[in-house]
Amino acid sequence: MVGGARNSARELAKEFTFSSGRALFLAFSTLLIVVLAAAPAPAAGGAPLPQNQPVAPVTDFTQRCLTCHSQPYLGQVEVDGRAKSLFVDPTAYKDSVHGLLPCNACHTGFTPDPHQMVSNAEFFAQTAGEACRNCHDDQFEMYKQSYHGTLSRSGSAESEKAPLCVDCHGSHAIQKVNTLAYRQGIQDVCGRCHGGREATYLDTYHGKAVTLGRQAAATCVDCHGSHSILPVANPQSTLSQANILGTCRRCHPEASKGFTTFLVHITPTSPKAPLVVFLVAMFYLVLIIAVFSFGGVHTLLYIYRGLKDGLYFRKGGH
Ligand code: HEC
Ligand code: HEC
Ligand code: HEC
Ligand code: HEC
Ligand code: HEC
Ligand code: HEC
Ligand code: HEC
Repeated sequence: MVGGARNSARELAKEFTFSSGRALFLAFSTLLIVVLAAAPAPAAGGAPLPQNQPVAPVTDFTQRCLTCHSQPYLGQVEVDGRAKSLFVDPTAYKDSVHGLLPCNACHTGFTPDPHQMVSNAEFFAQTAGEACRNCHDDQFEMYKQSYHGTLSRSGSAESEKAPLCVDCHGSHAIQKVNTLAYRQGIQDVCGRCHGGREATYLDTYHGKAVTLGRQAAATCVDCHGSHSILPVANPQSTLSQANILGTCRRCHPEASKGFTTFLVHITPTSPKAPLVVFLVAMFYLVLIIAVFSFGGVHTLLYIYRGLKDGLYFRKGGH
C-alpha cells in the first residue's frame, strides 16, 4: 500500500520532470531562434563583445540578501518563544552544497527589497519541510511515509518533537552525506532525541568502529534507514523479522538468521535485558564486588598487623 502510493507519486514526479523538461526544451529552442534571428552577422575580424550587457550571476541575488543578513547585529526574531538568529554566515553558506543557489531557491517569493515579515512558527515549519521538496522530491516522499513524517503531521502533542528536514541537515550549511565526518556525526543527529539508543550503540562494535574512523561500519541509518524510518514492529521496517537479515547481509554477506539476534541496544545490567545476559552481567558484578571486598579487607588487616608489629618494636620489646 505504501509502495503503491509511492509509485504513483514517483510517476507524478516523472511526469512533472518530463513535462517540465519538454517546456524547458521548447523555451530554449525558442530563445535560440530569437537570438539567431536578432544577432547581427559577425563582422570579419570579430566584433568586440558587447560591454554594456549586465551578466547577473546567481550569486548577485544572494549577495544582496547578504548585505543585511551577513551582519551579526541584525539580531533575532522570536518564533513562538524561541529566538532565531537572522544572521547567515556567508562563508558557511558558500561552502555548503547549496552555495551556488540564490537564497530564494528555498525562501520562495523573497526579494532583496524590504520584505514582508512573517515571523511565525508556520512560516518556519513550512520552510523547514516543504522548501526542500521542490528539488528533493524522492527524499520528501520517503520522509512523508516514515514514522517521523507521519508524526510531524499528526497534530498531536508529540508532533512538535518529530524531526523535519532541517533538524537533521541544518539549513544554511548543509554538507554532503557520503563523507566520514558526516557519518561520524549521524549518531549525534539521532542522539539529540534518542540519547539512550546512542549510548547503547556506542557500546557496540559498530559504534566504536565508526567513532575510530572505520567508514564501512554501520551507523544508525544503515540499519534503520534515514528517510523511511519505521518502528521495528512494522513489517515494512528494514529491521522487521522479514527484512532484518537482508539489512545485515548488505555488509555481512555470510550472515545467518542467528547473526541477526545480536543485541544492538542493550544495557546488560538493566532488568529489562534478556535473562541470560542479565544473569551473566550480575554474576560479573557480584564477582567483582566480592574480589575487591576480599582484597580490600585483607590489605587493611595486613596494614593493621604491620602497624601493630611496628609499635611493638618501638616499645623496645626488643
Ligand atoms: C535591507 C535589509 C534586508 C535585506 C536586503 C534582506 N533582508 Fe531578510 N530580513 C531583514 C530583517 C531586518 C529581518 C527581520 C524581520 C523581523 O523582525 O521580523 C529579515 C527577516 C528575514 C527572514 C526571516 C523571516 C521572518 O520574518 O522572520 C528571512 C527568511 C529573510 N529575511 C530572508 C531574506 C532573503 C532570502 C533576502 C534576499 C532575497 C533578504 N532576506 C534580504 C532585512 C533584510
Ligand atoms: C537550502 C534551502 C535554503 C537556502 C538556499 C537558504 N535558506 Fe534561509 N532558511 C532555510 C530554512 C529551512 C530556514 C528555517 C530554519 C529553522 O527553522 O531553523 C531558514 C531560515 C532563514 C532565516 C531566518 C532565521 C533563521 O536562521 O532561522 C533567514 C534570515 C534566512 N533563512 C536567510 C537566508 C539567506 C540570506 C539565504 C541566502 C544566502 C538563505 N536563507 C538561503 C533554508 C534555506
Ligand atoms: C531523521 C533525520 C533525517 C531527516 C528528518 C531527513 N534526513 Fe535527509 N538524510 C539523513 C541522513 C542520515 C542522510 C545520509 C544517509 C543516507 O544516505 O541514508 C540523509 C541524506 C539525504 C540526502 C542525500 C541523498 C540521499 O538520499 O542519501 C538528501 C538530498 C536529503 N537527505 C534530503 C532530505 C530532505 C529533503 C528531507 C526532508 C523531507 C530530509 N532529508 C529529512 C537524515 C535525515
Ligand atoms: C533549488 C533546488 C534545491 C533546494 C530547494 C534544496 N536543495 Fe538540496 N541540493 C540541491 C542540489 C542541486 C544539490 C547537489 C549539490 C552537489 O551535488 O554538489 C543538493 C544537495 C543536497 C544535499 C547533499 C546530498 C548529497 O548527495 O550528499 C542535502 C543533504 C540536501 N541538498 C538537503 C536539502 C535540504 C534539507 C533542503 C531544504 C532545506 C534542500 N536541500 C533544498 C538542490 C536543492
Ligand atoms: C528532533 C528529534 C528527533 C530526531 C533528530 C530523530 N528522531 Fe526518531 N523519533 C522522534 C520522536 C519524537 C519519535 C516518536 C516518539 C517515540 O516513540 O520515541 C521518533 C521515533 C523513532 C523511531 C520509531 C520507534 C520508536 O521509538 O517509537 C525510530 C526507529 C527512530 N525514531 C529512529 C531515529 C533515527 C535512526 C534517527 C536519526 C537518523 C532519528 N530517529 C532522529 C524524534 C527524533
Ligand atoms: C546494527 C544495526 C543497528 C544500528 C547500527 C542501530 N540500531 Fe537501533 N535498532 C536495531 C534493532 C535490531 C532494533 C530492535 C531491537 C531493540 O529494540 O533493541 C533497534 C531499535 C531501535 C529503536 C526502537 C525502535 C522501535 O520500534 O522500538 C530506536 C529508536 C533505535 N533503534 C535508534 C537507533 C539509533 C538512534 C541508532 C544510532 C545511534 C541506532 N538505533 C543504531 C538495530 C540497529
Ligand atoms: C553498513 C554496513 C553494515 C551493516 C548494515 C551492518 N554491519 Fe555489522 N559490521 C560492519 C562492519 C564494517 C563491521 C566490522 C567488520 C570487520 O572489521 O571485519 C561490523 C561488525 C559487526 C559485528 C562484530 C564483528 C563481527 O564480525 O562479528 C557484529 C556482531 C555485527 N557487525 C552485527 C551486525 C548486525 C546484527 C547487523 C544487522 C542488524 C549488522 N551488523 C549490519 C558493517 C555493517
